[in-house]
Amino acid sequence: MIPDDQVEEVRTRADIVEIIGEVVALKKSGREYAGLCPFHEEKSPSFSVNPTKGVYHCFGCGASGDVFRFVRERQGLDFVEAVKYVAARAGVAVREVRAGQQGEDDPLRPLHEANAFARQWFRDRLLDPAVGAPARTYLRERGIDESTAERFGLGFAPDEWRALREAAAHHGMAPELLLEAGLLTTSENSPDPYDRFRARVVFPIEAVGGRTVAFGGRTLGPGGPGQPKYLNSPETPVYHKGEVLFGLHAARQAIRREEVVLVVEGYMDVVALASAGFENVVAALGTAFTEAQARLLRRYTSRALLLFDSDRAGLKATFRAGDELLAQGVHPSVVTLPAGEDPDTLVRSGGAAALKEFLEGAVDILDRKIQILEQHDYFSTLDRKRDAVDRLLPTLRAVTDPALRDIYVDRVAEKTRVNRATLEEELARARSQPAGRSEPKPARRPPTGSRRDPVGAMGPEAALLRVLARDRQRRHTLLELALERVGPEDFKDSHNRAIFQTFLDDPELEAPPAEMDARSADRLAVLLAQPPEEERLAHGQREFTAAVALIEGRRLGAEIDELQRRIEASSDQEEKLRLIQEKKRLSEERSARGHGAGGEYARRLARGHHPQD
Ligand code: UTP
Ligand code: MN
Repeated sequence: MIPDDQVEEVRTRADIVEIIGEVVALKKSGREYAGLCPFHEEKSPSFSVNPTKGVYHCFGCGASGDVFRFVRERQGLDFVEAVKYVAARAGVAVREVRAGQQGEDDPLRPLHEANAFARQWFRDRLLDPAVGAPARTYLRERGIDESTAERFGLGFAPDEWRALREAAAHHGMAPELLLEAGLLTTSENSPDPYDRFRARVVFPIEAVGGRTVAFGGRTLGPGGPGQPKYLNSPETPVYHKGEVLFGLHAARQAIRREEVVLVVEGYMDVVALASAGFENVVAALGTAFTEAQARLLRRYTSRALLLFDSDRAGLKATFRAGDELLAQGVHPSVVTLPAGEDPDTLVRSGGAAALKEFLEGAVDILDRKIQILEQHDYFSTLDRKRDAVDRLLPTLRAVTDPALRDIYVDRVAEKTRVNRATLEEELARARSQPAGRSEPKPARRPPTGSRRDPVGAMGPEAALLRVLARDRQRRHTLLELALERVGPEDFKDSHNRAIFQTFLDDPELEAPPAEMDARSADRLAVLLAQPPEEERLAHGQREFTAAVALIEGRRLGAEIDELQRRIEASSDQEEKLRLIQEKKRLSEERSARGHGAGGEYARRLARGHHPQD
């Protein structure tokens, strides 16, 4: 049995909306939450949850009870199992007592204890009048007041090699345990474990239930080579970074209340925004937003505002998060901040009012995508519209909410003038493919000889330059598009690189500039002499797209190979892990960009062989 006081503690700490929300899609309605009853078949919601009273009730079938009852009925557990299940989610440790003997132990408990200990120890260092002074000054200068620091449990890791390790040893925690928790690390020069976080402000990372599972640490200065600005715990048995959102535990009530979540990039954005009065904020911490993270948010709200950087990487992260959220039934909008600003700097300089204004300017994710395509002149010609459709399809495919999907399809149809039926056909084709978020498989390669590969034997660099040279009118736009993915440094041939650079310097050029080396100038002159025939211009779009994809794919492939070499050569565990993560990220990027089989590019290439255009 579990002692009554513990049962009561679990009941008060448990979030009944959250626990029921894991299995029932709940919508807020007044002070209660409503959804389709999980205990009987129904088409309109008669099931409601009252978080204040901690009970659920179905007006249809009469099912009702508290959080434990729900878990028992729904999962067929007995009472003790149900209490344990809820306790685990509420971050409460319960101990089953049976005739004086202790219940079975959670094998992860030592890791949780190590993290809890470290959190408190870091916190004490921050509050220590002498040791914590520089960190407190740092936080004050960044506008973080003490109550906010307390709310997030901010701490300080002093500039010492084994201070945490020794403090933990005094409490009977072995270095092996701290190593497993990621609090200590080793290196080639120092196989004897030492503190991972040193001379950093420390941010505890909490699982949604409130338990500390990992840490992030920021340097007090700008950071530099060999000393990254932020350092994070590695993955451990209690920390899977794609499944955690920084700040969610603290933010969850506010997210429900405001009925929207703000998703930002960094620790500081979350903390600074809380300091400025925005409590419904979470961060994905510089990693690609995952399906698991979207599912977490879905429990609290059906609306998200994305406040990522407005640069290229930021936009990519925005649309990735957007599609994940749409797939989980959360409606994302994009908040575009001025270039170079992040939410933290914005509230620092303009206060809460400045951020509010930008939040009010949030644009629906699909509209934002369309805006960007418009800026890149995607709706000017038929050929480019075809491409625009391709870029919009993933979002249409991601959205699960039927009403929103309807609106989205309409909007894309109107914008691209592709009729609805055709769009629906493309979407249906996509859906009939094997499940999964990945892009559909490319059409089978057509019989050889039907049409040539758009890039052909000449190689992607030359092909790209040829299109640029030929199409002076669109050169500017093409260059912009190319720059989204490749730069001059990606050209292997030095003359090709020089020509590409020359186009960047002067997109209007009609002849090789005087200062150009003779070989490059000759080559450029030949390229510029091509006749601008209509038919070839139309073909150019495919050639261009394929060439950019090939050059980019080549670079990503080389980077991945290089990382693999370094992983194999490295004997420093910490470095190795970092390299492995980096490689994983690049591989993901490569498949997201569709360089593997089945990607958008591959599909487009395949369509290039179609007689339709
Ligand atoms: P940013 O570089 O945008 O930093 O990284 P920031 O959040 O604005 O930090 P401040 O304002 O300079 O303190 C965004 C996020 O990416 C991760 C961190 O999670 C960071 O919050 N990151 C960044 C790292 O993990 N390591 C780094 O070296 C840098
Ligand atoms: Mn910042």
